[in-house]
Amino acid sequence: MNKVYSDKQRQLLKLWQQHKLRRINLLEGSVRSGKTWISLVLWAFWVATMPQDGNYLMVAKTLTSLRRNCLDLLQTLVGKNNFSYSLSKKEGCLFGRLIYLEGVNDARAESKIRGMTLQGAYCDELTLFTEDFFSMLLSRLSCPGAKLIATTNPDSPQHWLKVKYIDRCAELDMLCMQFLIDDNPYLDPTYIANLKKEYSGVYYDRFILGLWKTADGLIYRQFADNPEHWMVDTVDKKQIDFISIGIDFGGNRSLTTFVSTAVMRNYSALTVLRDYHIAGRKGEIDADRLSREFVGFVRKLQTDYPDVYIRYCFADCAEQYLITTLRKALQQAGIPLPVGDSDKNPIVSRIICTNTLLNTDRLHLLRGCDLLRAGLEGAVWDSKAAEKGEDKRLDDFTSDIDILDAFEYSFERFMRKLVKT
Ligand SMILES: Nc1ncnc2c1ncn2[C@@H]1O[C@H](COP(=O)(O)OP(=O)(O)OP(=O)(O)O)[C@@H](O)[C@H]1O
Ligand SMILES: [Mg+2]
Repeated sequence: MNKVYSDKQRQLLKLWQQHKLRRINLLEGSVRSGKTWISLVLWAFWVATMPQDGNYLMVAKTLTSLRRNCLDLLQTLVGKNNFSYSLSKKEGCLFGRLIYLEGVNDARAESKIRGMTLQGAYCDELTLFTEDFFSMLLSRLSCPGAKLIATTNPDSPQHWLKVKYIDRCAELDMLCMQFLIDDNPYLDPTYIANLKKEYSGVYYDRFILGLWKTADGLIYRQFADNPEHWMVDTVDKKQIDFISIGIDFGGNRSLTTFVSTAVMRNYSALTVLRDYHIAGRKGEIDADRLSREFVGFVRKLQTDYPDVYIRYCFADCAEQYLITTLRKALQQAGIPLPVGDSDKNPIVSRIICTNTLLNTDRLHLLRGCDLLRAGLEGAVWDSKAAEKGEDKRLDDFTSDIDILDAFEYSFERFMRKLVKT
């Protein structure tokens, strides 16, 4: 490949040269299709032609994701001499222009931007912004010739960005350009083939086909259709790196659940070893019973896997008193296992991770894990939330969601090591 840009990317640059960019410029479509790359090239070229004393902003969901997705690449593209930045100062310098850096999730970002007059803004993963934040941002782009450049993957057809902006593109001063994986000639065909395998269902439609699709029906359809494919009778203990346990505490109507997951060497795969719930509802379970049953659960793992390191345990972080209770119980039992807080990853990220592991045959359930099996089979999207454009897992006590939470807590701390994308 000796061309500097793909045909699609060149098409965008041509629009810029012909002064056909609009006030809002959105690049949307499949993953890895070359949106971020060209959007940063365009942003850099454009900023370089705009007033030196203008205000420019780059914003993503968090500052960390801004750096990961954009800032380092921008630096590679234009060179360290032309772009430098400091995350602690939340500032960068692009061709001599001051660039403010912000994360939408930062509580102070909104009030800071509210007071600005902007010449230009760059938005990474726009569907993750709130509608209010975005409309406020647009209201700040008040200098003559001000522009916004954004990229995103598709979401639900009811998403505010689709309904209020993309579908009204013709009425608004807006350019929408769709990018598909096949528009990117720089990827290795084997890499593309593997990427396509990672996704299924609504995520295949969105991330591979680039379609705005509703999340409805079964979440793990592939599993529900043929659970036996992912069930195993044994696990090769020598291949286990360590065991991690997830705990979800019961509420008014839900059960307290434990799931122990074996993380295989080099984070190559997960094998769920055992699932468990404390039978009994509100009023029947006290701290003693919780401690007793959890210590029993860990002891059984120690007996069944004597040579394997039981390394982590992560529990629902909303229940700090219960976490303290468990720490004490383990200490008294002489078990050196730390109990940490569950991570705060959005449920959707955990679902995408589980789906990818299933699709690439990197998640297995040891026979007997019937609670988790039923949980995966029964998991469905919330159709009411879907009408509002939200991807939400149904949690109405008709399906065993608690076991899914416990399972996800057991691995979410190392999701990035398990799936790269
Ligand atoms: N013009 C180019 N020259 C060389 N490589 C490129 C070019 N454009 C894209 N690529 C390669 O393709 C990969 C994917 O591009 P990019 O990150 O822009 O995709 P994206 O559409 O933003 O994906 P996502 O939706 O996953 O964020 C890049 O990491 C890079 O390796
Ligand atoms: Mg991108």
